[in-house]
Amino acid sequence: MKKVVILTQKPFSSMAVDGIKEILEAKEYSVVIVEKYKTIDETYETIKDANALIVRSDIIDETVMDHAPELEIIVRAGAGYDSIDLAAASKRNIVVENTPGQNANAVAELVFAMMLYNARHHFNGSTGSELRGKKLGIQGLGAVGKNVARIADGFGMDVYYFDYTFPTEVASERGVQFAGTLENLYKTCQYITIHIPLSESNQHSINYDLISLMPKNAVLINTSRSEVVDDDDIMRILAERPDFSYLADVPCAYMEEMGEKYSDRSLFSLKKCGAQTAEANNNAGMAAANQIVNFFESGIKKYQVNP
Ligand code: 3PG
Repeated sequence: MKKVVILTQKPFSSMAVDGIKEILEAKEYSVVIVEKYKTIDETYETIKDANALIVRSDIIDETVMDHAPELEIIVRAGAGYDSIDLAAASKRNIVVENTPGQNANAVAELVFAMMLYNARHHFNGSTGSELRGKKLGIQGLGAVGKNVARIADGFGMDVYYFDYTFPTEVASERGVQFAGTLENLYKTCQYITIHIPLSESNQHSINYDLISLMPKNAVLINTSRSEVVDDDDIMRILAERPDFSYLADVPCAYMEEMGEKYSDRSLFSLKKCGAQTAEANNNAGMAAANQIVNFFESGIKKYQVNP
């Protein structure tokens, strides 16, 4: 009998957990849930005989894998797998998969919630501005970026994109225009929303030189990973440009200081919540469960991300 551990420091909704269990228990796998753990070592006893893990942003490194010698597959119920040591997994013949697109709409909707909250001055009653007719730049046209483009169309925004995976123009999505270069995207758009996966080469790549290109009343939205922006540079630009706002669903080294000095132009969620909707939990969680069944029953590794 296969043992699957749902290892989520940030829990799924109970409905999503029920859905995951139903799929796995139909195959007579045993399912154990470990949520809200404080430190990963608390989980070692439970994972020591696990054949599969379903995780979110949980850090699964070499040490964790060594405590789970029976592990055959780890499914990241979500998009970004930067919290999993892929090389260590490959070395141990562990398949790592993600569930691309399953939580994308939730993240995209949060982008608009943040933009509106900022444009309406945190709902304080003073005169704000509208999104219609404003230029929105999407950095990274993956699943989240495409959902942002779809919603932006309804808001009547003028949408541009740049994507390193498609450095030349791809078939345009609902009138989304190719910016040509990343610099041009930043130069053109008052609003920029970041949707790139974290990689070794893009850490701190969104920096002073790039952000400084943005036009008047610039708003930078980061719902991807904190490491892709340079926190020192964000702080410097907030100080230099009273027309610049930074809205983030990821932490920043200067979060508290920004909150004190620039409370009207900086915004942070209390806890990363882009993917934290009932729908996204269901979609990503159940996709993960189905992928585990497909792997164990038929050897399918369609969403494998490690070499
Ligand atoms: C993702 O990579 O899928 C998102 O960042 C969501 O992450 P979470 O599952 O930890 O909320």
